[in-house]
Amino acid sequence: MDNTRSHDIAWLPGDGIGPEVTREALRVLDAVGSAHGFSVTATEHRIGGAALDETGRPFPTSTREACLESDAVLLGAVGGPKWNDNTGDKRPESGLLALRRALGVYANLRPVRVPEARTGASPLRPDRVGGTDILFVRELTGGIYFGTPEGRTDDGARSTMVYSEAEIERIAHVAFQRAQRRDGHVTSVDKANVLEVSELWREVVPRIREEHYPDLELRHLYVDNAAMQVVRDPRQFDVVLTGNLFGDILSDLAAALPGSLGLLPSASVGGTVGLFEPVHGSAPDIAGQDVANPTAAILSAALLLDAVGETAAADAIRHGVDAALDAGLRTADLAASDEETVSTSTFGREVATHAADPAPKNAPTP
Ligand code: IPM
Ligand code: MN
Repeated sequence: MDNTRSHDIAWLPGDGIGPEVTREALRVLDAVGSAHGFSVTATEHRIGGAALDETGRPFPTSTREACLESDAVLLGAVGGPKWNDNTGDKRPESGLLALRRALGVYANLRPVRVPEARTGASPLRPDRVGGTDILFVRELTGGIYFGTPEGRTDDGARSTMVYSEAEIERIAHVAFQRAQRRDGHVTSVDKANVLEVSELWREVVPRIREEHYPDLELRHLYVDNAAMQVVRDPRQFDVVLTGNLFGDILSDLAAALPGSLGLLPSASVGGTVGLFEPVHGSAPDIAGQDVANPTAAILSAALLLDAVGETAAADAIRHGVDAALDAGLRTADLAASDEETVSTSTFGREVATHAADPAPKNAPTP
């Protein structure tokens, strides 16, 4: 095996449970790296509240430069009660937004899967939710998160939702290209019955389909209806294409389907360097207790490996997560009241062991 491949990762643990869940992701990366003939070098940098405390800024220049020079960024989470009274660019979250902009990662991919065998923790009935497999493609560097004018006025405040045609076109391409590798069905979500920016969205997206992807199916839903449909019948969705704010809300809604926010990874791509982070937040209430579920962070590391070309190792991580769950290991968020729970680090170690096992017991012999 060729031992020369190496990947330099900027590790941004952030706040709350960010450090403990990404530590497990790094453990798993190390394990699959050894098994698959590459090395991962992670260099730690501050972001969010941790960076504010140390430097007075949520996204210090040193962090920005390290991220831009890395092969990929692995992030935990930002924010917490300590900084809740902060405003404007002193909010920990503004550091994350600045990072996304600095990297130019305009496409946020959030897969939500509920395998038939894992409906137990879902708040929905197994016969409704089993088999759900949705990919949210959320525009990440535009929309109301970044529109101008913004801020306080004499008698109020304003935020502006802005999309250029070019911004809509490039995110539409991402969604259609993902759909080509899946079931070929895109649902575009907007609020075209009210917002001009959504009217434009609804003109541009079908044009991109007609010009480039005539074989794919496309339908449009208003965001309020889409929210209801995600809960009523999540299996109707394949790829969901939407803007920054609607994608933020719908992906949290859908994240409830598997039963825990702790399961869902995300990849933000399309820029110079990819950013990989769990969908969940910093969960300050359980931080530092070694009880958080590291699955979302570990699966984010798998998406990171996909992006740097280590797809076999990425699959091995997914296999490791499945194997740990199949072996009955449950962190507190997933355990039924009569089930034993394991800690963050125990779960991470178990995934690492399974992921690094080059010959899983149930694999066919060559
Ligand atoms: C997310 C988060 C962020 C967002 C916050 C922390 C700025 O909720 O990644 O979904 O709104 O994009
Ligand atoms: Mn969110």
